[in-house]
Amino acid sequence: MTLPRHVTIFEMGARDGLQNENALISTEDKIRYIDLLSETGLKWIEATSFVSPKAIPQLADAAEVFARIRKVRGVRYPVLVPNLKGYERARAAGADAVAVFTAASERFTKRNINMTIEESLSTFRDVVRAAKNDGCWVRGYISTAFGSPFGDEVTPQAVLDVSLRLMEMGCDELSIGDTIGVGVPSQVGTLVPLLAAKIPLDLIAMHFHDTRGTALANVYAALQLGIAKFDASSGGLGGCPYAPGATGNVGTEDVLYMLHQMGIETGVDLAKVRAASRFIAGVVDHALTSKAYQAMEAASVASIAWM
Ligand code: HMG
Ligand code: MG
Repeated sequence: MTLPRHVTIFEMGARDGLQNENALISTEDKIRYIDLLSETGLKWIEATSFVSPKAIPQLADAAEVFARIRKVRGVRYPVLVPNLKGYERARAAGADAVAVFTAASERFTKRNINMTIEESLSTFRDVVRAAKNDGCWVRGYISTAFGSPFGDEVTPQAVLDVSLRLMEMGCDELSIGDTIGVGVPSQVGTLVPLLAAKIPLDLIAMHFHDTRGTALANVYAALQLGIAKFDASSGGLGGCPYAPGATGNVGTEDVLYMLHQMGIETGVDLAKVRAASRFIAGVVDHALTSKAYQAMEAASVASIAWM
């Protein structure tokens, strides 16, 4: 078993994280949060979504957020687009990296984007064609890869089929999502080799939500199979409002702590990610769930008490 020496983190806090927050967060606070994340060494920061404001009111200010964040050289700021309208809004705001998103579950796809999987692939074919013509980088998400919130069966073969369709239309990278955090390492052990037989491993990222506490175990299982790109969310924010019960992504701090202690490089400064999380913790109306974040916060409270 050879583990990757370097892992890339794709930061989700500002998009997957904030889309699931109930209390409306100000545009200024979103910009400040992303600007703090930009100082951490992260090279990929998903900034926002150009989806229907009726579907995700929290991110209705996408254009203003995107236009006003400080774009650090060497950092990419992808945005989610559900259709050509979203793509055009994203381009007008200056985006040069976009992500389309479908799923392996019919029922989830219908709830999330009001399309069948086939309709979504047809919609995204046009989006990807336009994006590639414009020189954009494109990611394709496959949600519910380990289970659906609506009881329909999701097979590894269905995940592979959708993945191949997204690659054929020209996506530069795939992100395989455990949207509702039901996956376990043995499922990772089945799915990743199936995908890797047809798709280069370095074009596959894994996206684990931590709803049942299995996300970090799944990251480790995927690492052992050669995956070297992981989506994670500062503080453990996140979830999809159209996936009942889904909670946050695996915490960026948790992934960084584990990888760094294992001697795997990320180029990301854990203390600076914690600083970004600390800022957003003061904005959202609940505690952050990342264990490593909590441990660092508890340690600093303990050291203040000691002084
Ligand atoms: P629809 O209602 O079927 O769309 O929604 P429509 O085409 O019939 O349009 C209805 C209205 O929305 C129209 O306006 C359109 O102009 C407008 P009206 O005439 O009523 O005033 N509209 C838009 N406005 C702004 N931007 C747009 C846009 N598109 C239409 N892009 C639609 C279909 C796809 C638009 C909607 O369902 C939608 O936006 N869904 C997004 C849901 C979402 O963002 N979910 C969370 C992200 S996915 C996720 O979190 C999973 C992931 O993290 C991976 C994982 O965890 O597995 C990625
Ligand atoms: Mg997600």
